[in-house]
Amino acid sequence: MAISTNGDDQSALDVLLDGDIDAIMAQLDRIVEAAPSYRRLISRWENQGWSSEAFDFSRDAEEWNDDSIWTAEQRRFMLFSLSEFFLGEERVTTELLPFAIAAPTDDQRIFLASQISDEARHCVFFDRFYREVLGSEAETITANLAIQRANVNDDFKRLFDGILHDVADELRRDPENFEALVRGITVYMIVIEGTLALTGARFILRSLKEMDRLPGFRDGFTHVNRDESRHVGFGVKFLADAIKADERYKRVVQETLSETLPVGVLAFSPPWVEDRYDFDTPFGYHSSEMFEYAMRSLSKKLAAMGMEPSAAGAPA
Ligand SMILES: [Fe+2]
Ligand SMILES: [Fe+2]
Repeated sequence: MAISTNGDDQSALDVLLDGDIDAIMAQLDRIVEAAPSYRRLISRWENQGWSSEAFDFSRDAEEWNDDSIWTAEQRRFMLFSLSEFFLGEERVTTELLPFAIAAPTDDQRIFLASQISDEARHCVFFDRFYREVLGSEAETITANLAIQRANVNDDFKRLFDGILHDVADELRRDPENFEALVRGITVYMIVIEGTLALTGARFILRSLKEMDRLPGFRDGFTHVNRDESRHVGFGVKFLADAIKADERYKRVVQETLSETLPVGVLAFSPPWVEDRYDFDTPFGYHSSEMFEYAMRSLSKKLAAMGMEPSAAGAPA
């Protein structure tokens, strides 16, 4: 089947099939630079399908319950981080619906519909992990989420139940509001997915790989992040095109980043640490590494959108 595409675009998308999180992050940079068409991103979605039921969690369950493997601090930190992912996946599934209605072109709407199904799968993946590995006995996904809500921090709630929900609700009420869509995509694809989720995932996966633990989870979570990098590729293309068409959207993106990042970066900080901007993790890395990695990732995306990297000006 002949789909004409330039070589860079093709190879940037192909290497997304790599199984390593750092490779996925490096390839995301290349996707962002190559700015593939929506049709190519949709084609990747068709070719990268997976099932949340395909991963074997038996070794994970044994390892999670083995006190000789984890310190209490490591378990607590993992529970905090993974619960933010589990709840976050549910939120982004539901809140994406108005985005898909508001997107002006068919290509964008089809991509966003594919993304809604990805986010639903991610949520189901975490639901299964919490049952089969962490021992949750909740009867429904709703009940499982409600229990894990106790593990997330208040900034996470402000980001998802406040900032993301408000802009999604604005789009629901007024799907013609293109400026709200620019704000929404900045919050959702650039901050939540591109800056926070992929960074958090990268550090979790790196630690688990070094320890050689939770192989089923690592496999599944790597698939999740491959999807996420496709979503971020969509967001960068959408905003780059919006800015190309009308420079005033730069200011909209900039203002949205200024409002969202100070809350967003604190989603990384466990509620029990003394200084939320400066803490050690029980996996041997310091918070500054995460903040720096997140800001570097954001700067690259801004550059690809035609923005000054300084627009990232976050408190971290
Ligand atoms: Fe997701
Ligand atoms: Fe996503």
